[in-house]
Amino acid sequence: MNNKKMLYEEVSRQILAVLANEDNRIAQMATLACLLAQAFPENIWTGFYLVDPTTSDELVVGPYQGTLGCLRIPYGKGVCGVAAATRETQVIVDVHSFSGHIACDSRSASEIVIPIIDATGTLIAVLDIDNPLIGAFDNTDQLALEALTKAVFSR
Ligand code: SME
Repeated sequence: MNNKKMLYEEVSRQILAVLANEDNRIAQMATLACLLAQAFPENIWTGFYLVDPTTSDELVVGPYQGTLGCLRIPYGKGVCGVAAATRETQVIVDVHSFSGHIACDSRSASEIVIPIIDATGTLIAVLDIDNPLIGAFDNTDQLALEALTKAVFSR
């Protein structure tokens, strides 16, 4: 098993143990952002953009670890907006070749965004993780993060 996969298994166990009795969405998101950022310190931004119940077409920043994130992202714009609009994980090898990428931190070179869907099938947020190297994220990240977010948010 590769090192990244082992790190995900370890941090996922830790996150699920911490959140075993916690249903609050903000507490859940803050815990994921904190422990994922600590487990993978090479990532420069780890956090959530939430579906804003006051607008029908924008995400608003939620709990995160990293440098200042932009506050709002329209659906369909940037990697986060595309993940929200399509409800599909986006693994972006090189953000510079992603048309419409929103550069909150100019160091960002690759990113992964996972849509967060609750038990009723409703999109509630996206999880965005950014890295300063091209090609930092692959299928291992996608599978581990999809499984972890499903375990936390789809119950
Ligand atoms: N790069 C993201 C915007 C969010 S920040 O990087 C924190 C995007 O294109 O959706």
